[in-house]
Amino acid sequence: MRQHVNPLSKNFHEIEPIPYLHELFENPELPLHLDIGCAAGDFLFELALENNKWNYLGIEIREKLVNNAMSKLRDMAIRNLYFAFGNANNIFNDPNYRFLIDYVSSISFNFPDPWYKKKHHKRRVIQPDLIRLLSNSMRKKSLIFIKTDVKELFNYMDFTISNNLNFKKLQNIDLFYPESFNPKMIKTNREKYAIERRLNIFQRIYIKT
Ligand SMILES: C[S@@+](CC[C@H](N)C(=O)[O-])C[C@H]1O[C@@H](n2cnc3c(N)ncnc32)[C@H](O)[C@@H]1O
Repeated sequence: MRQHVNPLSKNFHEIEPIPYLHELFENPELPLHLDIGCAAGDFLFELALENNKWNYLGIEIREKLVNNAMSKLRDMAIRNLYFAFGNANNIFNDPNYRFLIDYVSSISFNFPDPWYKKKHHKRRVIQPDLIRLLSNSMRKKSLIFIKTDVKELFNYMDFTISNNLNFKKLQNIDLFYPESFNPKMIKTNREKYAIERRLNIFQRIYIKT
């Protein structure tokens, strides 16, 4: 399976319908967490099984990974988890799916693709336009989590989010993890890989003011 797909390709202009929250989850009233670039969804499966006080939605641009995750989900009959296929930027920009941003309590960008070359930076998932869109619609006190082992990408994401005056940096100690989307601080696959290889991990949390 291809490791990288170009998110700006016109293949992703059409978006597969995402049902409303009451069709996605057994209890649509629970707080919603979005994980952007969730790959095969292992992190979200662990979270959803551990923590039935949250609903989780993963967005992933590699279709096969989403299809596999959805078939595993149906087999396991988990009712607080869903996977959507597509470029997260296009999904967020689509007025039909604005309800996701309006309702979300937190969003994670875990180890996004770095797209190292300058001419490819526009393929990075965090873009000023996306942050502007999120800042206009996310509710007060909702959170954005970023995590990466690429320092230059961290600086870029931090700069892009911090430049938006509606997001304020939150100190890790200010977050009461037991009430967050990840009370047991479960790690993503890339995070486990980075820890095993003793790579630096750069992370930050932002709160919508
Ligand atoms: C390096 S992997 C990290 C996977 C996982 N979050 C982790 O921490 O193990 C980045 C993932 O983001 C996905 N991705 C990249 N750009 C995306 C976009 N615009 N929308 C949705 N998914 C995207 C990639 O296909 C890939 O699965």
